[in-house]
Amino acid sequence: MKILMLGGSPHRHGTTRQLADAFADGAALAGHALHYFDLAARPAKPCLACMHCRQEGAKGCVQDDVMREIYPLLLQADAVVLVTPLYYFGMSAQLKAALDRFFAVNGALRSRKGVKAVLLAACGDREEEAMDALRAHYQAVCHYLGWQDAGMVLAVGAYTPEDLAEMDAISDARRLAELL
Ligand SMILES: Cc1cc2nc3c(=O)[nH]c(=O)nc-3n(C[C@H](O)[C@H](O)[C@H](O)COP(=O)(O)O)c2cc1C
Repeated sequence: MKILMLGGSPHRHGTTRQLADAFADGAALAGHALHYFDLAARPAKPCLACMHCRQEGAKGCVQDDVMREIYPLLLQADAVVLVTPLYYFGMSAQLKAALDRFFAVNGALRSRKGVKAVLLAACGDREEEAMDALRAHYQAVCHYLGWQDAGMVLAVGAYTPEDLAEMDAISDARRLAELL
């Protein structure tokens, strides 16, 4: 299985990166091929809403950035993994910018069948409701793109990587990848 992971945290050794690394370990054990993009290190520019991608004969997005590498992998992926810290009850701007740029390949993306999706996220709040808006957004994206939600690991109460030590989130992320 080809897996594309999009990571939206600026913390190279942060909470969500630990979830992503555990997922990548599980994916390797299961024999999956995985590409990870750190969207803080290599940012996707925000969509310009120029509608170039909608013009007849246009070949995708006009912008020249990391999305040029992501688009072909996105259009071949059997599973897409969104990785984000909770920022103001939603995904980080780094990840959202890349997601908005899916707009340029909407048609091709939506015509693909059987694509799986995973959400890996962490937040500092200890109430489960903190993740409600992010969960709803992810589910709306899955519904729109026809992606099958293969699972979420939502590490609630994980303000720092150390907090994960008391949780099952790391092993959950690894197992999720193995079961894909
Ligand atoms: C700009 C910003 C916004 C945040 N917003 C929330 C929030 O709305 N709810 C919450 O519980 N935690 C919030 N947090 C805490 C992070 O979600 C939490 O520390 C997470 O573990 C960070 O993951 P990372 O280490 O992978 O970046 C916020 C942190 C930052 C820096």
